[in-house]
Amino acid sequence: MADAEARHLDRWFGLLDASEQGRAMRFRNRADRAAYVAAHALLRHMLSKALGGDPKAWAFEAGPLGKPALAAVHLRPWLHFNISHARGLVACVIAGVPVGVDVEASDGNVPSAVAERFAPGERAMLAKAAGAEYRSIFFRLWTLKEAYLKATGEGLSGRLDSPAFQLDPLRVTLWPSENGPAEPNNPDAWRFFECLPCDGYRLALAARRPNRTPLDLVAGVIDPADLG
Ligand SMILES: CC(C)(COP(=O)(O)OP(=O)(O)OC[C@H]1O[C@@H](n2cnc3c(N)ncnc32)[C@H](O)[C@@H]1OP(=O)(O)O)[C@@H](O)C(=O)NCCC(=O)NCCS
Repeated sequence: MADAEARHLDRWFGLLDASEQGRAMRFRNRADRAAYVAAHALLRHMLSKALGGDPKAWAFEAGPLGKPALAAVHLRPWLHFNISHARGLVACVIAGVPVGVDVEASDGNVPSAVAERFAPGERAMLAKAAGAEYRSIFFRLWTLKEAYLKATGEGLSGRLDSPAFQLDPLRVTLWPSENGPAEPNNPDAWRFFECLPCDGYRLALAARRPNRTPLDLVAGVIDPADLG
């Protein structure tokens, strides 16, 4: 490991609380551990930049399906955030509305068992594509779905055929789901963003925007492989 990278990781590791440090140490793969440490340090930095205070001081608690939120002691129930870490790239978003973010390495193999659980229209789109185009469509759909399911807090606990996306132009259809929000059928309440933050990665972000209110969010992406 390069000296600069090791120094950054040590410093970032020092920002984490005991439970985060314990989880970090349980990663066997160095790149997974680096991504975990970078994501949690980035979140702490972004929270302190937005709200003030020491990055080390933030405490978190998990919602019913595991979505982390700021601990009640911070008295900011309106603050939402989400992080995502892939080998080589991490992302974090904070906002005043529910948000979810997902980053994926988009040059890997497509897990066909996952694609089979997509909505019929999505499967039809994939069936017409091959090779690089197939991978590109799959990872667009997958990151968009994950971003939404992370914004609602459902995670991957439920169905993968909702949200269902059409691409170019991007349109979403939402179906009720067991762990989803009480009023899930209004696609107009959601905004989606997509980008290619760097070669080989795809990022999607979902934010709940009731009443078409303007969005005020802060997003950050760090490539832990480029810490120098
Ligand atoms: C949350 C989940 C969507 C993460 O997907 P992923 O692509 O592996 O990971 P990402 O890097 O994009 O996101 C991980 C981060 O999302 C956040 N997260 C965890 N649960 C979440 C939830 N229910 N909703 C939104 N965000 C969640 C955490 O901050 C997590 O980071 P951490 O593990 O370092 O604390 C997925 O693991 C999941 O659905 N878990 C809950 C259901 C579950 O565990 N089922 C068991 C197997 S079916």
